[in-house]
Amino acid sequence: MNNIHAIILAAGKGSRMNSSKPKVLQILSNNTLLGHVLSQAKPLCDKIHVVYGFKGEQVQRKINDSSINWIEQTEQLGTGHAVMQAMPHIEDNSISLILYGDVPLIKKATLADLIHKAQQSGVALLSVVLDNPTGYGRIIRKGKQIQTIIEQKDANNAQLNINEVNTGIMVVHSQLLKQYLSEINANNAQGEFYLTDIIACAVADEQIISSIISKNQFEVAGVNDKVQLAELERIFQKNQATKFMQDGLMLKDPSRFDCRGNLNFGKDCEIDINVVIEGQVSLGNNTTIAPNCIIKNVKIGNNVVIFPNSIIEDTMIDDNVSIGPFARIRPQTHIKTHAKIGNFVEVKKSIISENTKVSHLSYVGDAIIGENVNIGAGVITCNYDGVNKHQTIIGDGAFIGSDSQLVAPIKIGKNATIGAGSTITKAVPDNQLSLSRTKQTSLKNWQRPTKK
Ligand code: UD1
Ligand code: CA
Repeated sequence: MNNIHAIILAAGKGSRMNSSKPKVLQILSNNTLLGHVLSQAKPLCDKIHVVYGFKGEQVQRKINDSSINWIEQTEQLGTGHAVMQAMPHIEDNSISLILYGDVPLIKKATLADLIHKAQQSGVALLSVVLDNPTGYGRIIRKGKQIQTIIEQKDANNAQLNINEVNTGIMVVHSQLLKQYLSEINANNAQGEFYLTDIIACAVADEQIISSIISKNQFEVAGVNDKVQLAELERIFQKNQATKFMQDGLMLKDPSRFDCRGNLNFGKDCEIDINVVIEGQVSLGNNTTIAPNCIIKNVKIGNNVVIFPNSIIEDTMIDDNVSIGPFARIRPQTHIKTHAKIGNFVEVKKSIISENTKVSHLSYVGDAIIGENVNIGAGVITCNYDGVNKHQTIIGDGAFIGSDSQLVAPIKIGKNATIGAGSTITKAVPDNQLSLSRTKQTSLKNWQRPTKK
């Protein structure tokens, strides 16, 4: 049987988050908790149903996925009640995969194994063995066979000593699920409809409950507060860093590296400590990133060196470029091969062509700079007149003396030289020296003021 429906329970308010956001919209790495679950479930399922409650519109807006069937649970009367809300949308001749929206590290492969088990036996349960099982539903077995699940609040002392607990994730033939859900009631310590009670119903119906015991407690861990969220964030980052290193990326300290997005890399790249990667980032071969850099949506070529404390966003960096330290490269910038952007330089929406150097303390915005240009220290493209932004165009081979201001819109010719300290407001011809300075004078008889 193939027709697989995921039912993701996401109606809980998550009050321990102390947040105005619903719990399933809390962020882990660069995705919502629910987004993580969806990313694993979607490839396996024909249909996804999400049972929502608290601030459902906000959840739907943020997830923004028209293929999802959103089902409201107006009152949170328990996990069994939540699943009941989905039943009218589920075909009898299908398999239901029940997931929690707040268990973000669940893996597709585990779910596939569990589905496979349920295809053979009708009911398959994912459990885990915990050193401290407090709070969880205990798995009661007779011999090897699962008999029932007893919630913490309904358990006797002997049952409380059991370490194998219910993760909440299960796969059930939908027809059986409908039948068993109609048999459960809320006569228990919490006055809730427990989904877990369907296990005893299935056993009474002579079903064998198959199970997988998870080897990874974090994969099945739920998030209830920000302490647990941070804990799973670390696990997520550690797993990701391990994978990157196995694929050949050198991380100086994997515990001080965060990737909140997708990172691709070639051979012999190295990332030093406290680097944050966001969005889509790719590195060519032999590229290094020094400590304390933030790199977001950047395509970086081969043999690039990013020096410490640089922030780069929405930029293309070609081969053999060097950037920083303390550079800020803002969106829509393209830095071409062998160019150099030095310390305390800000570049925005500009093209810096081959072999061009902007080495110290400059602002380059809305500029197209040719090849082999040297931009001296402290040069500023004055791109903003207070209302509109204007462009600066600098020809190949130009030399812009230190501390010059280029008042845009402006065009500097090829091989032009601008004398240091000039304020340039008119187009500059090719091959000439242009400068705008008052003549230097020295006052012979001038005296320094003295203290009165
Ligand atoms: C549940 C299980 C318990 C298991 C534990 C694992 C039951 C009765 N108990 O307990 O055996 O060990 O999860 O974490 O199933 N939800 C709804 N609507 C509701 C109630 C819950 O959507 O009316 C959602 C929550 O948002 C959450 C999930 O279901 O994502 C689990 O609910 P929670 O209250 O955390 O269940 P537990 O009591 O912890
Ligand atoms: Ca829980």
